[in-house]
Amino acid sequence: MRTILFTGKGGVGKTTLSAATALRSASLGKRTLVISTDIAHSLADALDMPLGNDPLAVGPPGLYAAELDTAEELERYWGEIKRRIADSLRERGFSPTVAGELAVLPGLDEIVGLVRIKRYHDEGAYDVLIIDSAPTGAAMRLLSAPDLGQRYARSMLTLSSGLARMVMPSLRSLLKTPLGEGMVQERIARLFEQVRELREILTDGEQTSVRLVLNPDHMSLRETQRAYTYMNLFGLTVDAVYANRVIPIEVQDPFFEDWKLDQAAHLEEIRHTFAPLAVFEVPLMRQEVVGLEALGALAETLYGERDPTEPLATEQPLRFYMEDHRYMLALRIPGVSGGSVELSKQGDELYVRLGRLRRSLVLPQYLAGMQPTWARVEGNVLKVAFEDKPQSSG
Ligand SMILES: Nc1ncnc2c1ncn2[C@@H]1O[C@H](COP(=O)(O)OP(=O)(O)OP(=O)(O)O)[C@@H](O)[C@H]1O
Ligand SMILES: [Mg+2]
Repeated sequence: MRTILFTGKGGVGKTTLSAATALRSASLGKRTLVISTDIAHSLADALDMPLGNDPLAVGPPGLYAAELDTAEELERYWGEIKRRIADSLRERGFSPTVAGELAVLPGLDEIVGLVRIKRYHDEGAYDVLIIDSAPTGAAMRLLSAPDLGQRYARSMLTLSSGLARMVMPSLRSLLKTPLGEGMVQERIARLFEQVRELREILTDGEQTSVRLVLNPDHMSLRETQRAYTYMNLFGLTVDAVYANRVIPIEVQDPFFEDWKLDQAAHLEEIRHTFAPLAVFEVPLMRQEVVGLEALGALAETLYGERDPTEPLATEQPLRFYMEDHRYMLALRIPGVSGGSVELSKQGDELYVRLGRLRRSLVLPQYLAGMQPTWARVEGNVLKVAFEDKPQSSG
């Protein structure tokens, strides 16, 4: 089963592109399920039909859709554990609301939603699964920790709330009490075993691709760069970028002249920033894209003869890792043969100059506080080492 995650900031067109891509996938004869994981669902609006937590046939052969109910999924996987932990916290004097909040790890609701990917993967009823809206940072952090089962209790510590620190002893004693131990431990272990398997599916570029959606404007670029960095950090393969709402050339109204020039400049910047990724330009349609007919028309203009479900790249363009106790970043830049590298860093942004190449990257938080110490080109990969030292003045 191929899984494609569409993500991007609010309102850029994720739901529309997920639905259009699913429609195209089904028309190519692939059994396709499109799921929205957003709390504020709009997949039903885009498809112009009611949807529920379980997949429903949409109409065109082989096309199914669902709007995930995270609360229902969380209850199914975590409900009993949550109640046990919350009860125990209440007995120790926490207010019921606080106890209820603390009994659920941040991101866990999204994770249990994603565990569905694994279920569909195992069941094999679909060839293609399209997810509208990829997981947030909190969910990704949970997903990416390799030994979460054992570390569950420790993760409670990293909750930003200072309360979490106070909870720790109680949680530990809860996990040790003969009453809670067996069941809670077993449930945690079972859930995180599924999460581990899910991670294997998500980080395999042949099986899973992430597609970033943005609009060719200043607002969305930075945020998309950040999402791109984090997807790479967590080991997911971003294989394409969709620049949506591009004003078509046939629009000649002078009112749009500046918009068109501005969009052209941003498209150039997008291609540059995300190279070597494929960039799909999605035209602004004449109307809101609602219903199968409009989605079909969008898919046609967008993909032509292409099959959008195939991976467009299977290698991560950007990697973060440790080497000889150094924090490293490796960026794949095809067509660059070497030369001296100039680096500069401002906040969480790293600027790279290499011959005629100029790139800016948003650094993950843990690197944003460090300084780049050296960089070199190996093959078509640029490697940058970071060190934990204070920024020099000047
Ligand atoms: N290329 C396009 N041409 C015309 N209308 C579009 C296009 N792309 C999206 N729209 C319209 O813009 C609106 C927002 O799109 P959509 O719901 O897909 O965005 P989203 O990223 O899923 O938003 P949210 O973050 O709220 O979930 C919808 O009314 C949709 O029909
Ligand atoms: Mg949406």
